[in-house]
Amino acid sequence: MSPLPEPQDKAGAVRSMFDAIAPRYDLVNRVMTFGLDRSWRRAAVEALGQPRGSTVVDVACGTGDFCRELSSAGYGAVGVDFSWGMLASARTEAPLVQADVLRLPFGNGSAAGVTCGFALRNVTDIGALLGELARVLERGGRLALLEVARPEGTLLRTGHSLYFNRIVPLLGGALSDKAAYRYLPESAAYLPDPPALQHLLEEAGFGRVRRRLFALGAAQLITATRA
Ligand SMILES: C[S@@+](CC[C@H](N)C(=O)[O-])C[C@H]1O[C@@H](n2cnc3c(N)ncnc32)[C@H](O)[C@@H]1O
Repeated sequence: MSPLPEPQDKAGAVRSMFDAIAPRYDLVNRVMTFGLDRSWRRAAVEALGQPRGSTVVDVACGTGDFCRELSSAGYGAVGVDFSWGMLASARTEAPLVQADVLRLPFGNGSAAGVTCGFALRNVTDIGALLGELARVLERGGRLALLEVARPEGTLLRTGHSLYFNRIVPLLGGALSDKAAYRYLPESAAYLPDPPALQHLLEEAGFGRVRRRLFALGAAQLITATRA
């Protein structure tokens, strides 16, 4: 896959790419984030703050990392992803559904929470995704989105850019697939900046939007409540 696909090819290209890298996806994630991604997911699950036993949908669940954290926290987790390769490599007891997250196979207001890890960049229309998440969440339902971020400050930005744009593609290429891990830093271009993302969330029907940074600003957790 060339770094950034044309819009009409994006969904197909993203799906094939994740099918291909699925077997070593978890390994590369752990190496690339120094194992910190687990603590970020735990923080996201804690931020949901919904009653034990409530249904939480993990959209773009990949290999099920979020589902495992959700189940450990006592939630009724359901994972959704369109990559069969990722679902087949998943290690979770939670039910998994193969579907497009832009058309979730759940009724209106059927979930108390939604999580989404590192997938905003991969959908063709972030506004449409947020609208779909608002549809399946009940009023007062909680959303927790984890994403990559760009640190503030020249020194941090320079260090981060060296790591994310140069070292990560080398690591990913050595352990897994060169093209996929060239796409990873490039795909950050699809991410709206914080005010634009807040605006999209509010337009979709979310309030109480909060942003928390991890790893000196290299990752972000955005939480919001279905108004
Ligand atoms: C970077 S992975 C993240 C996986 C997992 N959430 C995590 O935190 O490790 C992105 C995932 O989004 C999925 N994805 C992207 N667009 C999708 C869509 N439109 N419908 C369903 N899954 C999608 C991919 O198949 C892939 O598994």
